[in-house]
Amino acid sequence: MTAIILLGPPGAGKGTVAEVLAEKGYTHISTGALLREQIRLETPLGMDIKARMDQGRFVSDRVVVEMVREVLASAGGEKKFLFDGFPRTLAQAEIFDGILQSEGTSIDEVILLECADDAIIERLSGRRTCIKCGMVYHVKYNPASSAGVCDIDGCELIHRPDDNVETIRKRLDVYAERTAPLIAYYKAKGLILPVDASQSIDAVRSTVLEKLR
Ligand code: AP5
Repeated sequence: MTAIILLGPPGAGKGTVAEVLAEKGYTHISTGALLREQIRLETPLGMDIKARMDQGRFVSDRVVVEMVREVLASAGGEKKFLFDGFPRTLAQAEIFDGILQSEGTSIDEVILLECADDAIIERLSGRRTCIKCGMVYHVKYNPASSAGVCDIDGCELIHRPDDNVETIRKRLDVYAERTAPLIAYYKAKGLILPVDASQSIDAVRSTVLEKLR
């Protein structure tokens, strides 16, 4: 199994980079997308997840780790996995190391997307997401061919409820407090590949592909 992690603040472009790596055969596992699926199903767990996400808070480590375990168990066989938004606490990282170890494998690379807060606020304020397939657009940097409509499936594009400026600032604070310590954790293991994510979408994608080669 190959395991690559996309690490970086909210809105740095993890999902946007994941699109191009998925074309290279990586199975994209986004814990944010898995959690939004629970919300869509309107399960009791989904209601709790929604309350936390709308406030920019993290979902519990236990819930997130369990979801990842299930996805890996159902994948089966030799695979190339790309983890987007997971792990994002030290506890998740340590449990994840244990899961991989029990599979006789370990993390291959951690791509760190670095981007300043003001750019992130502009990106998330202008992000539009397909309500059905989750494809991501930006009103200025990556617009859909027809405003408000997904190019892939023709469904409606929405502005995510957690993409308002107040919640974005909260998410950035939570990232600094709980996720940024992972940079030192993975640096100590020699796994960090830093990428300047303030470049254009095409430049960031090319840099990542180049660094992974
Ligand atoms: P999640 O869905 O993972 O959100 P996030 O980490 O906050 O990241 P985003 O999806 O907002 O941004 P991104 O980096 O993928 O950027 P994107 O490519 O879309 O998580 C949401 C919530 O779920 C969390 O807040 C938490 O509550 C919970 N959660 C998830 N995982 C969890 C975990 N492990 N533990 C606990 N809780 C968890 O790009 C953003 C925009 O910018 C787009 O419009 C895009 O078109 C544009 N863009 C991208 N790159 C560029 C560029 N280079 N130049 C210009 N524009 C760009």
